[in-house]
Amino acid sequence: MKPLIIITGKNGQLGWELSQLAPQFAEHFNFIFVDREELDLSNPASIPDFFAKYQPQYFISCGAYTAVDKAETERELCYNINAASVGVIAKECAAINCKLITISTDYVFDGNGTSPYLPNQTKQPLNYYGETKAIGEDLAFANNPQTIVVRTSWVYSVHGANFVKTMLRLMKERESLNVVGDQIGSPTYAADLASALMTIVTELEKGNEHYGYYHYSNDGVISWHDFAIAIKTNAGLNCQVSAIPTSAYPTPAKRPAYSVLDKTSIVADFGVKMVNWQVSLKKCMDLLLTSI
Ligand SMILES: NC(=O)c1ccc[n+]([C@@H]2O[C@H](COP(=O)([O-])OP(=O)(O)OC[C@H]3O[C@@H](n4cnc5c(N)ncnc54)[C@H](OP(=O)(O)O)[C@@H]3O)[C@@H](O)[C@H]2O)c1
Repeated sequence: MKPLIIITGKNGQLGWELSQLAPQFAEHFNFIFVDREELDLSNPASIPDFFAKYQPQYFISCGAYTAVDKAETERELCYNINAASVGVIAKECAAINCKLITISTDYVFDGNGTSPYLPNQTKQPLNYYGETKAIGEDLAFANNPQTIVVRTSWVYSVHGANFVKTMLRLMKERESLNVVGDQIGSPTYAADLASALMTIVTELEKGNEHYGYYHYSNDGVISWHDFAIAIKTNAGLNCQVSAIPTSAYPTPAKRPAYSVLDKTSIVADFGVKMVNWQVSLKKCMDLLLTSI
C-alpha cells in the first residue's frame, strides 16, 4: 500500500499547486485533497469524524484563514481555523502515527529584525492573523511530536488571489500606482513551495526524519515596491509605480517591516532546492500572461 497524503485547502494557492504536482508522485503516494465541504476547519469539533474515515500517513495543512486585515474583526473564525483546528488535526494525527506538515507565516515575527529570522527565534506577532498562526504552531507541536511547521512569506500563484495578479490588474487599469517601499521580505511562488513540501515528504518516507520549525521562500530580499516593478517589467506595462512608506498606506492589521526568513535548515536537513525569486516570478507570469 502506498502512503496516503491528505491535503487541506485544495482550492487555495498552495493546495492547488500541490494538486498540480501530485500526478508526478502518484507512483509513490496516494493523495486526497479536501476543501471546506469535506472538512470545515471553522468547526474543530467536526475534525475527529473526518479522521474516522481516513487514516493518512501524512497530513499537509494548507487550509487557513488568510484574510489578514479582516482577521482583526473576524477573530473567532480566524482563531478556530488557524489555531484550534490545527491543534485538533495534530491530536488526531498523533493518534494514528501520522506526520503533520502545517504551513505558517513570516507574520509570527515582529519585523524589527535586521537579519533573516531563524526558525527558533522568538515569535512576537503584530497582528491577529499572525497571533492565531503562532498559537496553531504551538498547538501542533504540543499535540503531535511528528510535526513540521513550514513558515513562508508573500505567496503567489497563477491560481487564486495574490499581489502579482492584483498588480497586473491595477497596472492595466491605472496610469500610476503607489506601492509600499519600506516592507522588506521574500516572495514565494506557491509551485516552488509545493515542490519543497513534496521533497520533505519524500525524505521523511525514506527515513530522513526531522521535525520542528523550517522556513521556505524564494531566494532574494526585496520590498513590495521592488516586486511591483519586476511585475511591471515582466508584463511590459507603462504604469508609473512609486514607492510610498507604510505610514502612507494604513491597514487594519499591522505588517512587519522586515520579514526575511533564514532557510538554511530546510536545505541542510531535507535537501530542498532554492529558487531565485526573479526566475520564479517570470515562470509564473509567463503562465499568467499566456492565459489572459
Ligand atoms: N498567501 C500568503 O501570502 C501567505 C504568506 C505566508 C503564509 N501563508 C500560509 O500559507 C498557507 C497557504 O496559503 P494560501 O496562500 O494557499 O492561502 P489561500 O489561497 O487563501 O487558501 C486558503 C485555503 O484555505 C481554505 N479554507 C478557508 N477557510 C476554510 C474552512 N473554514 N474550512 C476549510 N478550508 C478553509 C480556503 O478554502 P476556499 O477556497 O473554499 O476559501 C482555501 O482553499 C496558509 O497556511 C497561509 O496561512 C500564506
